Amino acid sequence: MVTCYDYTFARLLARSPIDAILVGDSVAMVVHGYDSTLHATDAMMRLHTSGVARGAGDRFVIADMPFLSYRKGIAEALDAAGALMTAGAQALKLEGVDGHEDVIERLVQSGIPVMGHLGMQPQSVHAYGGFRVQGRSQEQADRIRSQARTLQDLGVFAIVLECVPACLAQQITNSLRIPTIGIGAGAGCDGQVLVLQDMLGLNVDFQPKFARQFCDGAANVLQALTHFDHAVKQGTFPAAEESYK
Ligand code: KIV
Repeated sequence: MVTCYDYTFARLLARSPIDAILVGDSVAMVVHGYDSTLHATDAMMRLHTSGVARGAGDRFVIADMPFLSYRKGIAEALDAAGALMTAGAQALKLEGVDGHEDVIERLVQSGIPVMGHLGMQPQSVHAYGGFRVQGRSQEQADRIRSQARTLQDLGVFAIVLECVPACLAQQITNSLRIPTIGIGAGAGCDGQVLVLQDMLGLNVDFQPKFARQFCDGAANVLQALTHFDHAVKQGTFPAAEESYK
């Protein structure tokens, strides 16, 4: 699974072997330049989800429910969920479980596939005091294990495990019937997810330890821009065949 926030990349992903596309609330950081995902709004998520869904072909599209949208009671959570599903999402992802078990249960009962997200939950960045690995202490590890079981019991179809020690992710994966999708959680998860711009090497400001660059996207883009600039300034672009008679 990779993240995607727009139609152009969704068209490319539809031609790739990638199984599932996450319209992550990381859009607030990656596309809009905010310093956390707290700035993703219902409107932002709906707009990006609809663009991705139009380009994604037969790929499974999961959208993130943004900060607090599932913490204001069931009715408001259902409205927020409905807006994302009618925008084209086929499943929704929510961070955590404590305090919104009822929302998860109601979404599942309403026919909406729900994906969980445990470990480092970016919407709780200020409670952690920064983006930090979770589950290193025995107490934290036990809590994440128990949350994973609760999510499974509530009917989620998969769980993202973010920034937890690899051995904890492996234990949780072994103990569940549903798949885990890891990000910074080692190789023992059933699947992996990365932010598209990170794995394409397009993110020049930030490279998390866990995000391997599978191509040097920034260098390729900069080279193309330099070639365009050079061609215009040399008068070789546009050529006759690129002009109308
Ligand atoms: O929003 C996001 O990009 C995510 C992934 C990190 C899993 O939730």
